[in-house]
Amino acid sequence: MGLFLDMREVRGWVGQMARGRKVLNLFAHTCSLGVSATLGGATRVLNLDVSKTYLEWGKANYGLNDLAVDPHDFVFGEAFDWLGRFARRRERFDMVIVDPPSFSSTPFSVVRDYARLVEAAAQALGPGGILLAATNHASTSGQRFEAWLDHGLSDARRHGHLLQQWQEPAADFPVPPGRDPYLKVRALALD
Ligand SMILES: C[S@@+](CC[C@H](N)C(=O)[O-])C[C@H]1O[C@@H](n2cnc3c(N)ncnc32)[C@H](O)[C@@H]1O
Repeated sequence: MGLFLDMREVRGWVGQMARGRKVLNLFAHTCSLGVSATLGGATRVLNLDVSKTYLEWGKANYGLNDLAVDPHDFVFGEAFDWLGRFARRRERFDMVIVDPPSFSSTPFSVVRDYARLVEAAAQALGPGGILLAATNHASTSGQRFEAWLDHGLSDARRHGHLLQQWQEPAADFPVPPGRDPYLKVRALALD
């Protein structure tokens, strides 16, 4: 329920990469990436969103996939607030997913806050951890998005190398001639 169809390939990749990893799924929405990670053998998946309604959908999606629902894995809260808590507790993850909304009722702004989000997410990743960063902000170019990733990693004093990247799947969402893809997703392995 409540799937972003253009993230299908990313869900498949998360399922392949999750085995043995502790995953933080920020901006979890209906927890579809959390479902993929759990099905893929993650040791733990923490889904976090500011919407209790979407988290309830997420629990339903776990149920539809015959996955056990542990209420502790569905956290109602704001991403920066929780990243701050994890930093204070020195809690680290092996994969952190950031997929904030392009337009939000919360004060989060993609253009203003993405680099800071990457910085905070990188601090929640242990050595060898994977940062999966996405945006469907149409007026942001791939180059600008990558500059935010570089900036955030540099502020966190971390380095990352690109593992994989995606745009909207051509079969279902062909990019009109002369236009850039709206979806930009990058998976980075941090040192
Ligand atoms: C683009 S959707 C995420 C899609 C999801 N990754 C997926 O593939 O299904 C953005 C989500 O971020 C949540 N959100 C918005 N602002 C937030 C914030 N500051 N902290 C945490 N979640 C937030 C919204 O409720 C929404 O569910």
